[in-house]
Amino acid sequence: MSSKSPSKTWVDIVEEAQAHRNATIAALSPLAPKVPSNFAKSVMHIPEELLDDSVLSITDMPPEDLLQALSTGQLSAAQVTDAYLQRAAVAQGLSNCLTELLPSLARDRAIELDDYFVRNKRPIGPLHGLPISLKEHIGLKGLHCTTGYVSQWENIAKEDAHIVRVLHDAGAVFHCRTTIPQTMMHLETDSNLYGVTVNPYNSSLTPGGSSGGEGALIALRGSCLGIGSDVGGSIRSPAANCGIYGLKPTAFRLPTDGWGYMMAGADTTETVLGPLSTSLQGLKIFMKTIIDSEPWLEEPALIPMPWRPYSVPTDRPLRIGVLWHDGIVKPHPSITRALNTIVSKLRANDVEIVDFAPHLHDKAWTILASLYYPDGGQADSELIATSGEPWRPLSEWIIKKNPCVKTLSVGELAYWLEEREEYRKEYAMHWNKYGVDALLCPVGPGAAPKHNTAKYWNYTSQWNLLDYPGLVFPVTMVDKERDSWNSDGQILGDQDQDHRKLWDPDEFHGAPVGLQLVGRRFEDEKIVGIAEYIIAKAGLSIQKFD
Ligand SMILES: *[C@@H]1O[C@H](CO)[C@@H](O)[C@H](O)[C@H]1NC(C)=O
Ligand SMILES: *[C@@H]1O[C@H](CO)[C@@H](O)[C@H](O)[C@H]1NC(C)=O
Ligand SMILES: *[C@@H]1O[C@H](CO)[C@@H](O)[C@H](O)[C@H]1NC(C)=O
Repeated sequence: MSSKSPSKTWVDIVEEAQAHRNATIAALSPLAPKVPSNFAKSVMHIPEELLDDSVLSITDMPPEDLLQALSTGQLSAAQVTDAYLQRAAVAQGLSNCLTELLPSLARDRAIELDDYFVRNKRPIGPLHGLPISLKEHIGLKGLHCTTGYVSQWENIAKEDAHIVRVLHDAGAVFHCRTTIPQTMMHLETDSNLYGVTVNPYNSSLTPGGSSGGEGALIALRGSCLGIGSDVGGSIRSPAANCGIYGLKPTAFRLPTDGWGYMMAGADTTETVLGPLSTSLQGLKIFMKTIIDSEPWLEEPALIPMPWRPYSVPTDRPLRIGVLWHDGIVKPHPSITRALNTIVSKLRANDVEIVDFAPHLHDKAWTILASLYYPDGGQADSELIATSGEPWRPLSEWIIKKNPCVKTLSVGELAYWLEEREEYRKEYAMHWNKYGVDALLCPVGPGAAPKHNTAKYWNYTSQWNLLDYPGLVFPVTMVDKERDSWNSDGQILGDQDQDHRKLWDPDEFHGAPVGLQLVGRRFEDEKIVGIAEYIIAKAGLSIQKFD
């Protein structure tokens, strides 16, 4: 990150960044269909109206089917890439989810892969020809890497990020880059550089964040697999808000070298990269491909642990804990209904269900929030100040109005790190008491919030403090006919009372509802395996919410 003042005013930089984005979309040939300027709040059906059947049939496929077609030569990499470029451009017009399209980079790579296939009669690797979208802060050689700050516009990545190199070598095609919020610390996606990314199910709602560009793009099928990052919920919130799959893996399993990131090198709180996808198999293929490449040989911080296949036990029932609420804020009725739906389907399939009590989630937040900005937010403040861009409301809220953000002395930092370890130990004992295989819980206290209101992180950030993997899968949609508070109605406290008032079934009707499956540290394979089992038993399908 550079602390130099940029050579232009922030307004000029914004103009330049957006003109650049427009130019990358205008470079597409044939041009993508024009998006109507007046559309309803839900845009989910619009790609079907605008795009040809040939484009739709490719982009409606989940990644595992696409890879099957690509590896047998039924589809060429160029066909697939062209289809995704078209649909991603349309998704940008509908949700403002891209920072740029990569038509020439993607086409050139696709042609190279098709040549390889013709010459060698086999795919180059496990991701042969699969288009992958990238969150903006993941470095791509020669391209801007702003990390959401206007002042960083002139920062050009000198090389591809490690994860990009691994995916490229496995045969991936990178077709676009997606929006992130200023500071990357919002569970929404808005920046001065690119404006506000909206939820394709309802533009008054946020797609979540900070990987919200990925969320909106993948919901609209402008990508079937993308990379996000997560230090407080940034993969899981967009996955849930946009009705798709997402995985926050355990830290130090996937490479992070070469990303633009404020806290790079600081492991007070571990930020991770991870996948978002239209299918659960997409998450699994992503994890396995990267880990099979043994990335620890180049990035010594990573744990040299292979991807270990997991099978659900056959000699005993699976034991799933359910965290109905965190003891502070009860989730809205649509979330509780989703939990109930899964629980009753699992019970009917002989899965043991255990009510899992929350353990001091308020304390967990205090520790995590004290460790987010050990410099009191100084570095972020400078990166905003050097360009003169205004603070976005949610940046101000998480940094300036957050009572836990203080400049820590070395002793104070050591104190909070000790608290973190103490809490991790207590929580391990708590988990041992229940002896569950995995924990089913909300992703947030409600469905996608209205813009500038996503201020409750605890349902996701809890697992960042613990460094437990969390997988999000779509379950249902808010339904004003079916969702209402149950009669017990006990209020947990002031925050619960305030959050209860935000429930309005008309406002959230039709918004996706996802749930989260959490495992212990390094149990990434296990939660993927258990999620496969749950989704099969519950009869959930990707295209159709129940
Ligand atoms: C980019 O394109 C959009 C949509 O066509 C247009 O509204 C906007 O003014 C353009 N911005 C720039 C800076 O060219
Ligand atoms: C997390 O929960 C605590 C209550 O224990 C609350 O004070 C805080 O505002 C919450 N933080 C976020 C970002 O959700
Ligand atoms: C979208 O969200 C807004 C704000 O919550 C709400 O008023 C509206 O009813 C929602 N649905 C649609 C289809 O507009």
